Parts: sequence; structure tokens; C-alpha cells
Amino acid sequence: MARHLITSALPYINGIKHLGNMVGSMLPADVYARFLRQTGRETLYICATDEHGTPAELGAKELGLPVDTFCAQQHDAQKAIYQGFGLSFDYFGRSSSPENREITQHFARQLQKNGFIEERSIRQVYSLADGRFLPDRYIVGTCPHCGYDKARGDQCENCTRVLDPTDLIDARSAISGSSDLEVRETKHLFLLQSKLQGEVEAWIDEHGKDWPVLASSIARKWLTEGLNDRAITRDLEWGVPVPADTWPELAAEGKVFYVWFDAPVEYIGATKEWAGQDPENRDWKSWWFEADDVRYTQFMGKDNVPFHTVMFPATQLGTREPWKKVDYVKAFNWLNYYGGKFSTSQKRGVFTHDALEILPADYWRYFMMANAPESDDTSFTWELFSATVNKDLADVLGNFVNRVLSFSRKRFGDEVPAGLESGAAETDLGRQVAELLAEYERYMEEMQFRKAAQALRALWSAGNSYLEAKAPWLEIKTNPEGAALTLRTAMNLIHLYAIVSEPFIPASAAAMRSAFQLADDTATWVTSDEAKSLTFVPAGTPFTVPPVLFAKITEDDLAAYRERFGGGEEAGAQA
Ligand code: MF3
Ligand code: ZN
Repeated sequence: MARHLITSALPYINGIKHLGNMVGSMLPADVYARFLRQTGRETLYICATDEHGTPAELGAKELGLPVDTFCAQQHDAQKAIYQGFGLSFDYFGRSSSPENREITQHFARQLQKNGFIEERSIRQVYSLADGRFLPDRYIVGTCPHCGYDKARGDQCENCTRVLDPTDLIDARSAISGSSDLEVRETKHLFLLQSKLQGEVEAWIDEHGKDWPVLASSIARKWLTEGLNDRAITRDLEWGVPVPADTWPELAAEGKVFYVWFDAPVEYIGATKEWAGQDPENRDWKSWWFEADDVRYTQFMGKDNVPFHTVMFPATQLGTREPWKKVDYVKAFNWLNYYGGKFSTSQKRGVFTHDALEILPADYWRYFMMANAPESDDTSFTWELFSATVNKDLADVLGNFVNRVLSFSRKRFGDEVPAGLESGAAETDLGRQVAELLAEYERYMEEMQFRKAAQALRALWSAGNSYLEAKAPWLEIKTNPEGAALTLRTAMNLIHLYAIVSEPFIPASAAAMRSAFQLADDTATWVTSDEAKSLTFVPAGTPFTVPPVLFAKITEDDLAAYRERFGGGEEAGAQA
């Protein structure tokens, strides 16, 4: 049986992420990883912070911190939030690790050895006041086309024209504001992607066949436009240094690799970090090198697709070593905030730390997955969010659990009651539950998360319909043994829900599961036979009634959230 390797796009180190980042990468990866583990597949889920690059340097500068201190703090802050969301990484690493440095440098040496790297001289803007070369987007000035005075060196935001920094009128440094700039010659390493175009195409022809359209169409578009050679080094202080053994001159000048060169390598680097944490030193390489028994799935937002489907595979192919390449790319569209964009820079939308401050993680997890932007962009609105929580979680699931357990305790005490043998209603229910479970499993295997969430909700609903039809609160008056059967069956459903809901709502699932003191409760999944018979929890099992699983979001809460986060009026007007 295949082993499963899962990675989600590495969150950039700067700043706390918003829900849009979460739903496009880490959360669905977690849901899938949990499902695979529960259904008995060996699974390794790896993620890390993406720490290099100019924004990290500038972020540190803004806070007056050394960049390594800044990154360490930001890493810990993000890690704590992801723990709060219940993300079950096997390891959450750091792209600034020694492991990543070593593997990134190894990749570069291999590419050099195989003729895929070339040193080229380019002309680049140097800021005397800042004492450094400036990346294009850190040069601002007036657009020669439209006169916009805050155009960036790579593009004018106002008229969208692509620019060269030397096109700008009155160019100045975005860092210091200084206009004491000059153009200097400087050497950089270029990755000769043009030489690898054919191989990447062949690889996608063979392996991209079953990818979702969103991923394969973006990959094809990039290939059709043609792969250009790209500079893979930068003049920065913070990054993986160019190794002196191979490029002494560039190393002496302090060049580092471009952040997009070392970031995907960190998927491997973090696996090695994970291995090093274990005194027995787990085997990291078998997951990545000659790893034919590994099925590798990546999760990411659509903006990340070109890097993962074209550029990183090109890099891997160019090493001429058998590194594991992605088997399946699960890509996502955007989650919007009232039809406008979530925006980190404009602080619009809901950020992960705020989300956890106001409500438990499971509310967010369920909402996001049930509305995952799979085939299209979707929108977060407070109205939709509270309707989903109140209906699906509070009314359908939470209420069922509480109603059944409280009523049974009241009438039959603290143990699962015995009552009659199963009858026709239970047989029907079992058949329906087994069918829905099979559907749920199929969608989870296919990573169709919205459909999986619908199937899960249908499973919860089936319990409600059964309960309404049997009405044990009436049954108890004329046929107490029958009512006991109904409650025992419903309690079996609760136990089944606890198991199969875990990928989506792990904390609530654990609370549901711990209601029953079963002698042996180690099963990680439900078989189709168990789903049909609904007798896993036998009569006589002691149980407790857990506290209310999901509190409803009231009109007052809703008003307060709208007020605090903005109801999206501006975003709506903009869209
Ligand atoms: N940090 C990037 C982003 O936030 C994603 C990096 S993914 C990896 O868009 F490939 F570099 F790992
Ligand atoms: Zn312009």
C-alpha cells in the first residue's frame, strides 16, 4: 500500500494569515491527512514557514529586530495559531533551517554540474543611501504612461502596465525614499529553464492527467508561454548563501538564493528537520528519494500553481537525481470577503488569530471546508457563516447529540438502554447510513471537500429524520422498550458521527466520542457493516452528556462581528 506524503504551501513568515490563506492550503491538507490516517494509511503531513526574502528583511527592520529574531518570533506565533486550529502537521519547520540550506545548496550544485545554471551579468539599481541593490518592486516613481506617482519598478498599479525600473520618472527607493540611485552591473545565477521545457512538458503529459483542471490549466498556460531562464540569486543578507565551493566569487559578494528557489526545497528540508527531532533519527530520505511507493499530494492556492507544477519540477528534473515529484496538485480559488478580496495589507477580512479569539476552531473549519473555493471563488460573509454554524452544527448535529443523550439519561439512566431488537426502521436507517458513508469516503478519497462536507451533513441529517420519525418522546408513553431501541440506535449514530466527523471538526468529535465509556474504543474508522448494523455501542455502556457542542450565533453576536470586522460595504461597493 502506498505511503502518503502531504504538503501545504508554506505560509510566508510575515504576519498572521487570514482565513483565505488557511482554506486554500493548510486546512484542506489537514482534513485529508486526518482522513488518510484514520483509514489506516501511513501518512506524513509536512509544512513550514517560508522565511527568506525582502519582505522578511523589511518586516524585521520595521520592528527594529534582527531578521533571525523576527523570524523566530513570527514562526512561533504562526505555529501557535495553527495548533489552535487543530492542524495535525507531523512537522512544522522553517525554511531558514540548516537542513534546508544544505539541500538547497545541493540542488544548486547538481543543476550546475548538469549545465542548467549559468552566471550572467545584469544591470540593477543600487541605492547608495540604503547600501544595497533594490529589487524592482522596491523602487517607486512616476509612471511614464499614466503619471501615477506611486508606480512600482515592476508594474504600475494604476494602469497595470509592466515596467522596468529605469522607465520610472523620479525613481526613488521604497525603503529609504532616497533618490540617490545608480545602475550597476552585477552577476547572478540563472536557472536555464528553457533547456528543461521539453522535459517538464513530457512530465506533465504523463503525470498531470488526473489533476484538477484548475491546476493543469495553469500549468499548461505557463508552458505554452514558454519557460524563460530565471535569476535564482539575489543581493540580500537573509537567505540561503550561494555555496563558496562552487561559486567563490558570488559567495564572496554575499549573494543568496532567491526565496522561490529555496522555499519548495523546504518541503524536503522540513522532512529532514522532522527526522532529526527523533532520537532514532527517522528515515526522511525514503519519503523523497527513489520514493516510488510514496503518493505525494500538494495543497495550494491558485497563485502558487506555476511554481509547483512547472518551476519546482523543472528544478528537480535538472538535478538528474530521483527526487520525488508531486503526484496530485489540489489547487484552490479564492475565498473572498463579501465579494471583495481578503487583504493582508489593507487588513480586510478575518485573520486567523481573531477567528480563534471569538469562536472555537471547529466552527471555522467546518464553514471553510463546506464552502471551500474548489471550482470557483466563494465568499465569506458573517451572515452565511452564522447561518451555516447555526443550522448545520448547532441544529443538525449538536442538537441531535444533546437531545438523545439527555433524554435517554432522564428516562433510562446513565447507561445505554437495551430495549427491543432492531426493526425495519433501523434496517432502513442502517442501509441509508452505509450508503452515505460510502459516498462520503469516495469524496474524501477524491478530495472533493465541498461534496464530502455535504455527505457528512447528510449523515447527520439522517439521524434527525430517524429521530423525528420514531419520536421516542412519544414512543416512551406506549412502548418504552421501543423508545429504548430508538435511543440506543441514535447513540450508535453519535459514536459513528464522532469517528467520521473527526477530519472536519476534530475537537467536537473527541467530545462526542468521550461521551461513551466503551471497554475498547480504539477503532479509527467505521466499516460498512458497522454502519449498517449500528450496534457498535452495546446496551449497558456507561455514558455522560457532554456540554452543548455548538452554541448558536445570536443576532447580537452577528451585529458585533459585522461592526468589528466591517460588514463588507466597501468591498461590495468596490466589486
Ligand atoms: N510563501 C508562499 C506564499 O505564501 C508559498 C510558498 S510554497 C513553497 O505564497 F513552494 F515555496 F513552499
Ligand atoms: Zn501607469
